[in-house]
Amino acid sequence: MSPALKIFLLIGDPVEQTVSPAMHNAAFEKLGLNCVYAAVNVPPRFLADTIAGVRAMRISGLNVTIPHKIAVADLLDELDESASLAGAVNTIKNQRGKLIGFNTDGDGALQALEDKIGSVKGKEVVLLGAGGAARAIAFSLAKAGARLTISNRTVPRAKALALMIEQKLGMHARPISLNRDQLKKALKNADVLINATSVGMHPAVNQTLVTSDMMHRGLVVNDIVYKPIETRLLREARRAGAKTVNGLGMLVHQGALAFEIWTGKRAPIKVMEAAARKELRRKSR
Ligand SMILES: NC(=O)c1ccc[n+]([C@@H]2O[C@H](COP(=O)([O-])OP(=O)(O)OC[C@H]3O[C@@H](n4cnc5c(N)ncnc54)[C@H](OP(=O)(O)O)[C@@H]3O)[C@@H](O)[C@H]2O)c1
Repeated sequence: MSPALKIFLLIGDPVEQTVSPAMHNAAFEKLGLNCVYAAVNVPPRFLADTIAGVRAMRISGLNVTIPHKIAVADLLDELDESASLAGAVNTIKNQRGKLIGFNTDGDGALQALEDKIGSVKGKEVVLLGAGGAARAIAFSLAKAGARLTISNRTVPRAKALALMIEQKLGMHARPISLNRDQLKKALKNADVLINATSVGMHPAVNQTLVTSDMMHRGLVVNDIVYKPIETRLLREARRAGAKTVNGLGMLVHQGALAFEIWTGKRAPIKVMEAAARKELRRKSR
């Protein structure tokens, strides 16, 4: 007899543009697992009822996206270190009725970057943004030994994130404003630039916070925005002769880490990447 079907859900509002069902269902199929993944639109007022429903129906696991990543934490039984450091949850595992929250965004971004450039230990990294994704990435990078400068439009948020890193990890991070001159100065000595803001995301695809004249050839430029896969920032980087890392890698690795948390099995990364790429192409038509 085959094992009972296990159900996994993505909850968010909106969820129409997600590629996660394609990516996870391809991975379940590749490993012959009797599992299914679907995306469900959950407005904020129904979040608590949804989590109660997850318990009642014994849903095996969840991904959580905007706008629920912070609010859902209070509805769970336990948070793993990744979620409590980031202050946000993107993955939930139902472990025999106990709901445990994780955050795979930071380590997913770190793995995608290290896949391309090796260890970030001792590297000077300028991180743009202090929102949900930036927070998770900042903690993973700091833990991996990167030296961080955090630049955000709303400077108090950059300062608050730097302070949290100092308090929780005992590591120094430098907050700066998004001012062009300050950023240009910081980038002169940087090894890596990461855009963890939503600037450049569809439909505002011609926007960028950094242009080629602010970059140098030795810089690695990583945009976590994956719609479009090649953003204006990455085009600027190519023009400057810098190495580029697109947002697909983070998308696939954060999904692969969630898959491994749920199934205990190694994720078929290549299969997930191909499925995500195909679905992104289909959705951008
Ligand atoms: N590749 C992946 O797997 C992956 C995973 C997660 C997220 N993402 C992408 O990452 C991006 C950020 O997501 P998030 O969840 O962190 O969003 P979020 O929490 O809403 O944070 C948005 C960030 O963007 C900044 N920002 C927005 N508009 C700006 C503008 N016009 N000029 C300067 N800064 C601006 C915000 O600055 P303020 O603080 O000043 O508002 C904030 O730092 C989204 O595009 C998302 O699709 C990708």
